[in-house]
Amino acid sequence: MKIAKTTNVTSSSLNYDRYSMTKYDRDIVNSIPFHEELHRHIQEYVKKHYKKDGTYSVIDLGAGTGLTSAIVREVLPNAKFDLVDFSKQMLAGAKKKLGTKNVNYILKDYANLPAKSDYDIAIAVIGVHHQTHEGKRKLFKKIYRLLKPGGVFFFGDLMTHRDKVKAAHAQALHFHHLVQKSTDQKTLAEWAHHHLFLNNLAPIEDQIEWLKDAGFTVKPVLLKWNTALLICKK
Ligand SMILES: C[S@@+](CC[C@H](N)C(=O)[O-])C[C@H]1O[C@@H](n2cnc3c(N)ncnc32)[C@H](O)[C@@H]1O
Repeated sequence: MKIAKTTNVTSSSLNYDRYSMTKYDRDIVNSIPFHEELHRHIQEYVKKHYKKDGTYSVIDLGAGTGLTSAIVREVLPNAKFDLVDFSKQMLAGAKKKLGTKNVNYILKDYANLPAKSDYDIAIAVIGVHHQTHEGKRKLFKKIYRLLKPGGVFFFGDLMTHRDKVKAAHAQALHFHHLVQKSTDQKTLAEWAHHHLFLNNLAPIEDQIEWLKDAGFTVKPVLLKWNTALLICKK
């Protein structure tokens, strides 16, 4: 598979290929502070702004085991989903969860997706923070072009802050959360390593600017510690 230069990881360096999907599903919820709250916000927004029986098209970038798409599908049961991930194992987990009715699985680096499409909804939740900052900027432009006018991009991710004290405080709280929530020391070591050496967080203020440069209007919906949800409209 062709991997773009804009990512600082590959699916094998992320270790997901060696995870059981049950362990991954438990670990991701434990390891990302406010993961459930972030998804509650997405579901509430979708419930409020879309028709339940609508046949919307949704693309999920870095879909993992499909946790986020599953939450959207609960409130949009007729929507058509394209799930993109560069990990075979993760997409296999997603397939187990979501099946094949109205769901298409795309094994690809999302940076190499076609330049244009007409999706109603784009999702990237906890899947962009491995990009270089230049990669993030490029990706936001691409996502803008993937959406039809009026389309919405749910961007949930780990982000840092321009203010260095605020950034340090958020990191401390993030690691403290990992210490509290990890089920065992091996899991703690893995996720602490992941956060310290694999993640490449950009300040939320910069990312809002880049999203606006791409053409989006941006509404911050959640910002606690390093966890943020931005609802971006084309
Ligand atoms: C941590 S999961 C998040 C999944 C889900 N949204 C959630 O919150 O549970 C992020 C996924 O992004 C994928 N990913 C990271 N960079 C990618 C890239 N450049 N192209 C495709 N997938 C990527 C990883 O393989 C991983 O499965």
